[in-house]
Amino acid sequence: MRVFNFAAGPAALPTEVLEQARDELLDWNHGGMSVMEISHRGKAFMRAAAEAEADLRELLAVPAGYKVLFMQGGASAQFALVPMNLSAPDATVDYINTGHWSGKAIHEAARYCRVHVAADCGPAYTAVPTQAQLSFSGRAAYVHYTPNETIGGVEFSYVPDAGDAPLVADMSSNILSRPIDVARFGLIYAGAQKNIGPAGLCIVLVREDLIGSARADTPRVFDYAAVAAEDSMLNTPPTFAWYMAGLVFKWLKARGGLAGIAEHNRGKAARLYAAIDSSGFYRNEVATEARSRMNVTFHLARPELNEEFLRRAEDAGLKNLKGHRIAGGLRASIYNAMPAEGITALVEFMREFERAHA
Ligand SMILES: Cc1ncc(COP(=O)(O)O)c(C=O)c1O
Repeated sequence: MRVFNFAAGPAALPTEVLEQARDELLDWNHGGMSVMEISHRGKAFMRAAAEAEADLRELLAVPAGYKVLFMQGGASAQFALVPMNLSAPDATVDYINTGHWSGKAIHEAARYCRVHVAADCGPAYTAVPTQAQLSFSGRAAYVHYTPNETIGGVEFSYVPDAGDAPLVADMSSNILSRPIDVARFGLIYAGAQKNIGPAGLCIVLVREDLIGSARADTPRVFDYAAVAAEDSMLNTPPTFAWYMAGLVFKWLKARGGLAGIAEHNRGKAARLYAAIDSSGFYRNEVATEARSRMNVTFHLARPELNEEFLRRAEDAGLKNLKGHRIAGGLRASIYNAMPAEGITALVEFMREFERAHA
């Protein structure tokens, strides 16, 4: 039986996609073999790979002049690859710090260049800065931010204006959750394991004029220009993850693309926050305008009940609601694949639990 899986990542995939993958597992594309067992350079896989890229471009309405790369190493590798590809060792780079993942990105970038922090929302990290609160260095090779902080449940509702500097975004936990204007960004990267597909794949969208000047010691498999020149097949790519991402893109297209899924996501998050706000038993600490539509963090007024809440939720088929170990409390990650019924079940469970303990 499928449960409602509220994990932050690797996260739930659409059931329809898993069913299709199951049906095709032993005999993909009438070849009598699994997609995992064939050459990435064969015609069949190359066609599927190109189709996945075309569907992703269509979903995000990627304008001309951008490369789409299918890379490995996760979003964490990009924390280093962005400075290695886009900055010189004596360069200054600007970072907006809104929580755990921006902090990690800053820490890694500081190994490669000078980091100027344009805004820091610590120590609480329960809000995002306004545009007026951003204090740029004025000489940055790029400006980096994290549109959605997966652990804190904090999401930007606007795209910062970085002036002349290219804007770089770690969209790992909210890519494909709503339409975006790609032209506002110099580079977008996202680990796949939330809204794209299985872990092992990292998508990078990069403006063509920004590539080609990676540092000399950048490994070739991590040089955006080299990867782009080989259509992300410079070495063996994670073929199964790429195939699964392609199925997820088709699933999204069939659901009205990003406008359709955005409406669905807005409704899901609104219902969950309303349930939290209407009760004195649950509490969300994030500034209203910065509440994430993907990761809803909440606390019990009586934290000693956390373990019981989690145990009973598990029994009710509501899995992985524990907050991140560094944040504590509870968290419901409700990415694209979480159906509306999952929110209904969670809200009903929360009301029931409150009635039993208030
Ligand atoms: C916003 C964000 N950035 C980066 C990462 C790190 O991703 P990876 O494990 O793919 O390196 C995560 C992981 O959850 C994340 O949520």
